Amino acid sequence: MQIRVRLYFERKMVMEDVESVHYLYEAGIFFAILGIVWYLRRPLSFHVLQRIYAWNINRSKSYSNVIWEENVRVFQLLNEYKQTINKNLTILDVGSGPAEYMAFFPDKTKLVCLDPNLHFAGYIKENMKKYENVVETDIVQGYAENMPFESERFDAAFLSLVLCVVEDVRKSLEEVMRVLKPGGKLVFLQHVTFEDKRLLAYVLQRAWVPFARMFYGCHATRDTVKSIRNAGFSDIHMQYIYPKATAYSLRKCVIGVATK
Ligand SMILES: C[S@@+](CC[C@H](N)C(=O)[O-])C[C@H]1O[C@@H](n2cnc3c(N)ncnc32)[C@H](O)[C@@H]1O
Repeated sequence: MQIRVRLYFERKMVMEDVESVHYLYEAGIFFAILGIVWYLRRPLSFHVLQRIYAWNINRSKSYSNVIWEENVRVFQLLNEYKQTINKNLTILDVGSGPAEYMAFFPDKTKLVCLDPNLHFAGYIKENMKKYENVVETDIVQGYAENMPFESERFDAAFLSLVLCVVEDVRKSLEEVMRVLKPGGKLVFLQHVTFEDKRLLAYVLQRAWVPFARMFYGCHATRDTVKSIRNAGFSDIHMQYIYPKATAYSLRKCVIGVATK
């Protein structure tokens, strides 16, 4: 009897040991998964947000449609430049997004799209199929402030609605200057700061500043033309426009061409 009781307790202890090992094992897996998710939380949310951002920018079609005539006029200057140098242009689209502007580029353009967000690649390829004037497109991941290109590689650079989102405007324009060939063209389209303090738009732009990070890091109060001049560009042809289809506080835009 004594032996039976001992055996019973010994077996029970062994079973309990096995069960506690089992619990430990499950808890280990649970905490390991938790740890991995915690470790990857930033890249995962970044990845998802970047995808949504790309989808939204592509859906909104930027300003390419709302100011068609002004776009045509400014890209006409690029066409004239192409004729002057008598060669097909290699154009860098900085912060290209979906490269919505392909429609306007001169015939036989070789395009390089630079953007930190690679989720735009699919949309760029779709646009490529639509617009035959662009004969070649490279998609490069990178930042305006530190471009992965050799100096004097491009005939023209196109910057649309990007100088409002870059971290460092001065550095970005220095980089544009570096990668352009001498005489190369900077084509720009940008919403800019209102200067008249009596306007509601002026107040709204300043009120927006603390929330800039939430809205794609868009800074509404930058004086882009001044920055372009300070960067050393000359022969600036530009016009201010106020497209009605855009948000009231982002309505003052400038479109133009400058020369290195
Ligand atoms: C408002 S979107 C404009 C897209 C496009 N240029 C257009 O006009 O439709 C701003 C773009 O700049 C890109 N971007 C953000 N920070 C950047 C940086 N530091 N350098 C280059 N591009 C950047 C974003 O990923 C996005 O594609």
